[in-house]
Amino acid sequence: MNLNVLVLPGDGIGAEVTREAVLVLRHVAEKWNHPLTLAEGLLGGIAIHRTGSPFPEETACLAAAADATLMGAVGLPEFDNAPPEKRPERGLLAIRQALGVFANLRPVRAYAALLDSSPLKNHLVEGTDMIIVRELTGGIYYGTPRGIFEDGGETRAVNTMTYTRSEIERVAHTAFHLARGRRNKVTSVDKSNVLENSQLWRRVVCEVAREYPDVELDHLLVDNCAMQLILNPRRFDIVLTENMFGDILSDEGAVLAGSIGMLPSASIGARKPSGAYVGLYEPVHGSAPDIAGQNKANPLGAIGSVAAMLAYSFGLTAESAAVAKAIEAVLASGHVTADLRPSGTPATTEQVGQAVRLAIG
Ligand code: IPM
Ligand code: MG
Repeated sequence: MNLNVLVLPGDGIGAEVTREAVLVLRHVAEKWNHPLTLAEGLLGGIAIHRTGSPFPEETACLAAAADATLMGAVGLPEFDNAPPEKRPERGLLAIRQALGVFANLRPVRAYAALLDSSPLKNHLVEGTDMIIVRELTGGIYYGTPRGIFEDGGETRAVNTMTYTRSEIERVAHTAFHLARGRRNKVTSVDKSNVLENSQLWRRVVCEVAREYPDVELDHLLVDNCAMQLILNPRRFDIVLTENMFGDILSDEGAVLAGSIGMLPSASIGARKPSGAYVGLYEPVHGSAPDIAGQNKANPLGAIGSVAAMLAYSFGLTAESAAVAKAIEAVLASGHVTADLRPSGTPATTEQVGQAVRLAIG
């Protein structure tokens, strides 16, 4: 199978973790004899510097032409006070929308080897294995009207949380479909005691659930969910939620996994006629400018995102499983980056990447 992949390293540690992820991808392609075509493009702060736009037209064309896109991270402190449309993050929102990747899958697993890396007690975290399915191209991130307005002598800021029935339906189908390959349980998270938006969310999720009678559905309010994630993480299989709630809850999930550097993500849209998904793959972590360029960042979230790409965009489940297994082997060896608080000298980004390739064999 020909793997036609666009790489967008982005900002900060994005470049170094993506380098390791690409080396793993090359290694897999060679080992299993898949021709690999790589293109590289600009996204985020680096794209603003070089072209004036966080999501240049050229990147849009490259992404449309690729079967899958692997992204690093975006964001640089120098843009902290820039208006939203001139920030690196806008590039990320734009590419998600351009690719139509409406479902963001963020698996959260407590690896046995990392139980001590989590600040939570082992007995709480042990056995955690969930996927947060975050709606990614709707809600308050994209709703209009938005902006900061002068209004009768007062300054007012407005954002709009909006969802349509079809936006909720399609991401709910993704969640129920995924649950079937796992423990058959979906927890839908909303704020329906306050927001009309969430009332529609809950109603539509219940309707979709009728098509999946074999999958158990329950509902949690987002504030309670934030608490249950820490108190009883094993109760979750698939967590289905809207864009901003998912953004927040998935960082909380990072605490269960030991480090945000561990978390991969797959943003998928519609299925192509081949059955594969259009996909954008990125670690959940940000650009971490404070440690950028120091060969310290954990590349396992990025490498895990390659595993997700192999499975969802290319249907290469054996290859994907081999990468996932190699990640576990490296974790078990204890030769990991500083964020995972190893007992000995922390490994570098490059060393961890190389260890993964060796473990794949
Ligand atoms: C994420 C990030 C992004 C988001 C930012 C960088 C725009 O926090 O992917 O979780 O909020 O979606
Ligand atoms: Mg986030």
